Amino acid sequence: MRPHHLAAALLACAGLVLSFGAHAQGRKPAGPIVIKFSHVVAPDTPKGRAAERFKLLAEQMSGGRVRVEVYPNSQLYRDREELEALQLGAVQMLAPSLAKFSPLGVKEFEAFDLPYIFPSKQALYAVTEGRIGRGLLRKLETKGITGLAYWDNGFKIMSANKPLLAPADFGGLRMRIQSSRVLDEQMRVLGAQPLALAFSETASALRDGVVQGTENTPSNMYTQRMHETQTHLTVSNHGYLGYAVIVNKKFWDGLPAGIRRTLERAMVEATAYEKAIAQRANDDALAAIRRAGTTQIHTLTPQQQAAWRRAMAPVYARMEQRIGKDVVGAIRREAGGL
Ligand code: LMR
Repeated sequence: MRPHHLAAALLACAGLVLSFGAHAQGRKPAGPIVIKFSHVVAPDTPKGRAAERFKLLAEQMSGGRVRVEVYPNSQLYRDREELEALQLGAVQMLAPSLAKFSPLGVKEFEAFDLPYIFPSKQALYAVTEGRIGRGLLRKLETKGITGLAYWDNGFKIMSANKPLLAPADFGGLRMRIQSSRVLDEQMRVLGAQPLALAFSETASALRDGVVQGTENTPSNMYTQRMHETQTHLTVSNHGYLGYAVIVNKKFWDGLPAGIRRTLERAMVEATAYEKAIAQRANDDALAAIRRAGTTQIHTLTPQQQAAWRRAMAPVYARMEQRIGKDVVGAIRREAGGL
């Protein structure tokens, strides 16, 4: 954590203790309850827009008793730091991608990164909205974190400065990934060299040639202008990128029960909104990249798709042990993927 962030974290903890004290003694805290919601993407993305929607709903529904401050674009913290800040209570709410939970010691979320595990959004929702999804969120409790909801982004595409049509095309390319061992393995089986970088560093790493390619959703690529430095892009939909909305458990449990229920309702509505806009946002972003004319967009033939699947299949056997055979098996049964 950067030094000024650490100081901010400690001050925030002190504030939190004071406000818990007020709740515990039955006194109303002086001002509104403040929720700092930090995230790493642009405001005009599915997550960015849903964070703003949650702010609007929470503030309206609580009649101003809650104020939500949204900090997009890693303004406060980068990926790893934001998880530390949440645990310290310097921020109260985050929505990290499911690929970023293993530093907390909850490796099971990396199952969502397995290539081709979800054949459709419906299959994904069967997992996130069912017993498996709830069970995974509960695992966060021992880390001082409460999981509130799953938010969507979408299926990922691959980009580089050369066409990526066959697995062999990845040979020797340095590819930026999120900090997930499954994604690391996925790039290795393709013959690429994975490099885990914070999201906030990715666009510049592509520009400066630190990495030659990456994978992400069209909305993340477009809003970070990655297409301006990536000449080729393949609509491979080979993996999924989504989020868990999480809060500091102590903060959440310390809220007056009525406020907590109001915030839960606001979250249900914000989540429905998020799911409704995510696909469209990605379709629009892909169309905008096409219009920009900087990047050649490739789609795979059925034969090429089959070759990608075959090349990535070994990731399952190599990562099952790490993620947990039970979780991978349960998700595969529920989702009916690869
Ligand atoms: C990434 O690091 O590529 C994504 O997790 C960013 C995000 O939050 O969508």
